[in-house]
Amino acid sequence: MLVNRAGRVVASHATEHAPIHSEHPGWAEQDPEDWWRAAQASIHAVLATGVARVGAVAAIGLTGQMHGAVLLDASGDVLRPSLIWCDLRSTAQCDWLNQALGAEKILAYTANPALPNFTLTKLLWVKQQEPQIFARIAHVLCPKDYIRYRLSGAFAIDVQEASGTLMLDVAHRTWSQPMLDATGVRREWLPELYESPEVCAHVSPAAAQATGLVAGTPIVAGAGDQGAGAVGLGILAPGSVSAIIGTSGVVFAATDTPTLDPRGRLHTFCHAAPGRWHVMGVTQAAGLSLRWLKTLLQPGTPSGSYQALTAQAETVPAGSEGVLWAPYLFGERTPHLDPAVRAAFVGLDATHGPAHLTRAVLEGVAYSLRDTLTLFQELGIPARHIRVGGGGARSALWRQIQADVYGQPVEFLAAEEGVAFGAALLAGVGAGFWPDVDAACASAIEVAGRMQPNPQATQIYDREYLRYRRLYPALASLREGRTTGLDV
Ligand code: XUL
Repeated sequence: MLVNRAGRVVASHATEHAPIHSEHPGWAEQDPEDWWRAAQASIHAVLATGVARVGAVAAIGLTGQMHGAVLLDASGDVLRPSLIWCDLRSTAQCDWLNQALGAEKILAYTANPALPNFTLTKLLWVKQQEPQIFARIAHVLCPKDYIRYRLSGAFAIDVQEASGTLMLDVAHRTWSQPMLDATGVRREWLPELYESPEVCAHVSPAAAQATGLVAGTPIVAGAGDQGAGAVGLGILAPGSVSAIIGTSGVVFAATDTPTLDPRGRLHTFCHAAPGRWHVMGVTQAAGLSLRWLKTLLQPGTPSGSYQALTAQAETVPAGSEGVLWAPYLFGERTPHLDPAVRAAFVGLDATHGPAHLTRAVLEGVAYSLRDTLTLFQELGIPARHIRVGGGGARSALWRQIQADVYGQPVEFLAAEEGVAFGAALLAGVGAGFWPDVDAACASAIEVAGRMQPNPQATQIYDREYLRYRRLYPALASLREGRTTGLDV
């Protein structure tokens, strides 16, 4: 994406990746080389629009899926496919960490609990299951930082992304030596830490040739998709909250101190705005629930047909006539921290059809996001303005369902440009277009409107949400148990 000095998008391009490779249930891998191929194709395509003259790119911002483990050897070659954010194979390593260190200490060192989503537990899986690969590790990167490496040869990471590795001392914005000592991860494997808008690398001559960019173009640290997404939505001050439905779903609140959930149910991360933090709750399968259902209901149709699906859902009243969806296709993070729980439709009878299933999925994802808002309330984290974003905010029905389920107005932006936009604003700060992230958001972000909750629908949803809350214990009782070590 190319954004000008006024904060307007002037060109953008998306290139598909190969699908997630899943050799066993709960495994999820991608090939970092494929990300680099897609990044090069998109950069070429944006430059080819001719909207900017060669050399006009003032700075580059990076963002991407968080938590993945990209392992490189001493020559900088990728050692194995990346275990990505939704890979859940490292539950035994989480249990080991909880036993070896104690869940409370892990929370004290990193502000977060041991979860299979986080980079460190993936590294520990490799250590145990593929020792020959572990022995050759010279660098550990997150996905977007691998793209930086290919663009510049630099090993760097921002503190927001690093918060999702379980190796960062989030309160002090430095790597956590006690976590590294306890796990055998060497400090020199980890990239240098920067604040998100800081320039930390420059495009190399080789990458200039590969992409059409100009050698020497500055690259800022950037942020993980959730950090950049929050910048793109202007979620910077306490009281501002976003609810983003992408593949995963995230309810995100900005805080001015590191705010901890003593039971580890929320992630506490550094914000992409320097000197600030954020908390967030994650629904593993948000947009992913709808994509899954679409594949079942409309096999072989192109991706544009979400509209047909949600138009059908509009014919069903709020509450889906008793059908509930528990969106645990990839286990669940917030608030259950349970990678082993599985999804379910509940309450079906012979009168229900595909439209009920679709509406139940839209509602089930919104209930799951409300679980995070319930936690915010419990912990005294204010949610004065909720801004919706991601693919989920493009559907007027899903926006209305969110307002009704949250029982609060939701704001949406004039042009919600997604996480790449947040990364571009961070680059603009690095390039000196704006003095800081607040100024960038103030100049570039425009609220288009507000959806008010419909009191009748909210009444129905308040009742159905209580039914929804009873699904998790029932579903959890159906599977082999494991715990996080924290009293969840
Ligand atoms: C955030 C998270 C997802 C991934 C993939 O914690 O796991 O947002 O970054 O989008």
